[in-house]
Order: sequence, then C-alpha cells, then structure tokens
Amino acid sequence: MKLSIAALLLAIGSTNGFVANNKQSLSPSLLSSSSSSSSSSVRLGWTELFARKPFITGNWKLNPQTKTEAIDLARGIAASITDKSPCDVGLFVPFPFIETVQQIVGDKLVVGAEMITPEVKGAFTGGISPVMLKSMGIEWALAGHSERRTINKETDEYINAQCRMLIEQEMNVVLCIGETLEEFEKDLVGPVCEIQLKKGLAGIDADDMDKVTIAYEPVWAIGTGKVATPEIAQSVHQKIRAILQEMYGAEIAEETRVLYGGSVSPESVDGLLAKPDVDGALVGGASLNAKGFGRIINFQTVDTPVEV
Ligand code: 13P
Repeated sequence: MKLSIAALLLAIGSTNGFVANNKQSLSPSLLSSSSSSSSSSVRLGWTELFARKPFITGNWKLNPQTKTEAIDLARGIAASITDKSPCDVGLFVPFPFIETVQQIVGDKLVVGAEMITPEVKGAFTGGISPVMLKSMGIEWALAGHSERRTINKETDEYINAQCRMLIEQEMNVVLCIGETLEEFEKDLVGPVCEIQLKKGLAGIDADDMDKVTIAYEPVWAIGTGKVATPEIAQSVHQKIRAILQEMYGAEIAEETRVLYGGSVSPESVDGLLAKPDVDGALVGGASLNAKGFGRIINFQTVDTPVEV
C-alpha cells in the first residue's frame, strides 16, 4: 500500500494535480477543490488515492410498480446528479423499464440489467441475452445477487457463466457476493467471500478485470435496516482485495472497485464511503426515493491529508 501512495504522489507531482489511470479517471473537480486549500499539500480521499472513483448504483429489484412511477423516479434521480457529485452513478432497473429510463437519464448515469441469461439465443423461454441488451445500448448487468442465488437457485457455476458471457460481449458486470447471518455468526465471512469470488471469476483473465466490479452484500444486511458498520465493511473489503491480489496481483486488486450493499441510507453512506476500501455502494430500498438516493449519491467525502 505504501508503495502505491508513493507512486501516486509522484504522479500528482508530475501531472499538476490531475491523476488518471488506464481504467478510470479521477474526478478533476474533486482534486482541484481539495488542492486549493494549500499550495504545499493536497487532500485526497483514500479511494481517490488508489484511483478508484467511487461508484454508487441503485438496484430497483421488482420496483416500482408502474412505468409512470419509474419515469418520475428516474427523472428525480438524474436531477440530483451534478458536476460536483463525487461518484459515477448507475441504476439497475427491471427489464420493462430499461429503455425508457435510459432515454430519461441520458449520459448522466449508466443503466444496467439486474440479471442476464448466459446464452445468446435459442430455446430459453423468458431469457434475456447480453447481446440483446447490448443492441439496446445497455452495457452493465448484475450477477450473483443473493436474491437470485436463493430465490432463483442460481449456482456459482451459473453466475460464473453470466460473468463470462458479459465479458465476452465486452460488457461490465457487478458480481455480488456475501455471507448469510449464520455464516457471519460462525465467522465464515472470509471463506464464503473467497469461494464466491473465486468461483464467480473463474476463467476471467486479468486483462478483463477492468470490466468487473465487486459488490459485498452481506445477506443479513439486505432489506433489514441492519447496515454493516463501516469497520465491518472495511475489514471484509480488505479481505476481498487480498483475495483479488492473490488471484490477479496487486495492481488489479488496487484498481478493482469493491462496493458495499445492504441497507445503505442517507444516514450511513458517509461513514461507509470514508473507509479506504469501500469504493461505492449498491443501494436497494433507498434508491426508490429520489431525494434520499440523491443524498447518497452526493455523499460527503472525508479527506485524508497527504503532504507532498
Ligand atoms: P437494501 O439497500 O434494500 O438493503 O438492498 C441492498 C441490495 O440488495 C442491493 O443490491
């Protein structure tokens, strides 16, 4: 980690405060406002230090109930994104609303699918292929959400096929992983995340990891109002990054965004996003309220002073 800070500080010195890597540019507005406080020091959040611009995305699940409501919600959310918003924003929405929401939000945020079928065509009644989505301009999808693992009985192998199919189509995937309450209480968080991560990403090369985002979503926190503490989230995200390092090396581990999901709210977002390895949020219930989600998107950054 120290090495990375040193490398980044060198980059700051040589690029006059604007840092980019080949995966994700940092927000110039964030850097310029923070660097104006002193000519000899810049103040960067940890996530920025590692060139992982935060990504906050809603997952509407089976909501809202009508197209009219979806239009209102999408309009409200898009209106809350400004040049000063400190993150990339996304919305994973039900298939029937995808095209309409996409037209409403334009390029303010990415719109993605909540799942895909890992087949391109054929006799798969009810299936939705990534090729179909891509032809509509959709380039993101979730895979491995715990609700699909439990309700739809999606296995790690099936989830892996979804991830590989998305990558084959040059699309982006948010791979969701996380333990149940029982596993949490038995101190099995690390092993569960490791299995889901390794099986979900099996066969995916380092070169394709720029299309992968990980979302840590403890099942016990989803829809329960029991958000993980920032300390728990940080400790698990650190473990996830260590597993990614073992799989793909330090550089890719540091560049991969790891989001937290599970009862994220306007009240909890600032504390979570202040943690160095929490690179954003996957938000369910709170993304159905434009005002509340607007506050989450515009979370307050906690700066880490760095002398240069
Ligand atoms: P909640 O934010 O409603 O807990 O849902 C989290 C989630 O499952 C996002 O994918």
